[in-house]
Amino acid sequence: MTSSGRERDVVGPDALARRRRTLYARSDTYRYTHCSGGWVVIRIDSRGRETSMVFDIDRFTKTSVRVHWDDLDFEEFRRNPLPPESLRTLRYMCDVEYHTVCYLRDMLVTPSQGDGEVNAFMTMWNREEFWHGEALAEILGIHGVTVDYSDLKDKRQRLGWRDRLSPVKQAVLANIVGRDFVAVHMIWGAANEWSAVAAYKRLAALEGHPVLAVLLKRIAAQEARHVAFYATQARERLARSSKVQKLARVALKKVWGPVGSGIMSEEEVTHVMGHLFSGPEGRKEIVTIDNHIAKLPGMAGLRIFQDALDARGIAA
Ligand SMILES: [Fe+2]
Ligand SMILES: [Fe+2]
Repeated sequence: MTSSGRERDVVGPDALARRRRTLYARSDTYRYTHCSGGWVVIRIDSRGRETSMVFDIDRFTKTSVRVHWDDLDFEEFRRNPLPPESLRTLRYMCDVEYHTVCYLRDMLVTPSQGDGEVNAFMTMWNREEFWHGEALAEILGIHGVTVDYSDLKDKRQRLGWRDRLSPVKQAVLANIVGRDFVAVHMIWGAANEWSAVAAYKRLAALEGHPVLAVLLKRIAAQEARHVAFYATQARERLARSSKVQKLARVALKKVWGPVGSGIMSEEEVTHVMGHLFSGPEGRKEIVTIDNHIAKLPGMAGLRIFQDALDARGIAA
């Protein structure tokens, strides 16, 4: 416990071991589990509900690596190339991954950047997303589709004032809202990372390409660690006040759009969502994401992903 009596959220491996012994000795209201992101602590409330998890940020920063594909035979894409609709989806994913640095830039002008744990995570997160972009760009390159930073720069220039104003707008809004903004940032991130996991898994399954499937599963595993961070943070922060919950709910309902919708054309957004999530199997994934979000404090009944598909006429 800290001097204020509140437990610290950051748990390193040694501290975790000490803490595990202390907590087990003290009560049975904590459970420890191991996931791909490291150890997480789940707090159980008096009614037996899981109320929070503690993401092991120390472990995350120590184990964060770029996604590897050197051992994969990318020549397989020459023998067994991907079809145009999958290349179009991959191109979208690649652009979004490379665009992460802009999300980071926007975050740096908000109260989120004052939080040490958030800063540590975002540093590693940005690097991992960059390498996702590099891996996808290499596959696209084999198919004759060139993606590089100058393309992205062009795209940002076409966005013009919208992109230039983005950090300013975010700074003004975030600083008016104050610390509550961090909770909105975290639930927003959780929604996007949940969709990233689902999107990569769906593309791997739909395509059934032996090499693509391995790479996408590796990327999805890293996205799952991102989910663990954002969802843990969102759960903790939302639980603190109903005012924050209302703010986050309004933000998701009125402002949120599928990841990439702010930078890609609506035509591309509809292609990707339709390609990955149309039909019963795709809809099942989307309902699962909505259910994850609805379980966060104050978010019951939200169905932002299903609404996004319905608004684009993507059939279940
Ligand atoms: Fe990613
Ligand atoms: Fe991610």
